[in-house]
Amino acid sequence: MERTLSIVKPDGVEKGVIGEVIKRFESNGLKVIAMKMVRMSKEQAKGFYYVHRERPFYDSLTDFMSSGPAVAMVLEGENAIANNRELMGATDYREAAEGTIRRDFATDIERNIVHGSDGPETASFEISYFFNELEICG
Ligand code: CMP
Repeated sequence: MERTLSIVKPDGVEKGVIGEVIKRFESNGLKVIAMKMVRMSKEQAKGFYYVHRERPFYDSLTDFMSSGPAVAMVLEGENAIANNRELMGATDYREAAEGTIRRDFATDIERNIVHGSDGPETASFEISYFFNELEICG
């Protein structure tokens, strides 16, 4: 069993696809064991994406992530990190496989509907960024 962090980003919330995204997780072996709606400040978004601080898109990405509510979730399942990444599809929706969340709903490389942890260390940092142990019902 593995845990990963998923975020339905502000564009996903705005488009009304929170339920659709969760349905895909639940139908594909990922159990939601913690969830909350969050409105990140610019500083909180910068802290979350600190690993990308040198990237040219860091400022715009953190503006976007703090532009409205998002839904953070902890998912649990076998190979949860890789499974979630497969369900999301490539970062750039134009390269994402058919039937993936980003291919179906994203319209922009930055506004790509969902975020998912990319490895075990990232997952543990990202989960603890939003949730304490009491809030995780695994
Ligand atoms: P995410 O999986 O949340 O991880 C980092 C985010 O940065 C990514 O999804 C996109 O939202 C954004 N991103 C990655 N690459 C680019 C890019 N080339 N241009 C703009 N935004 C990007």
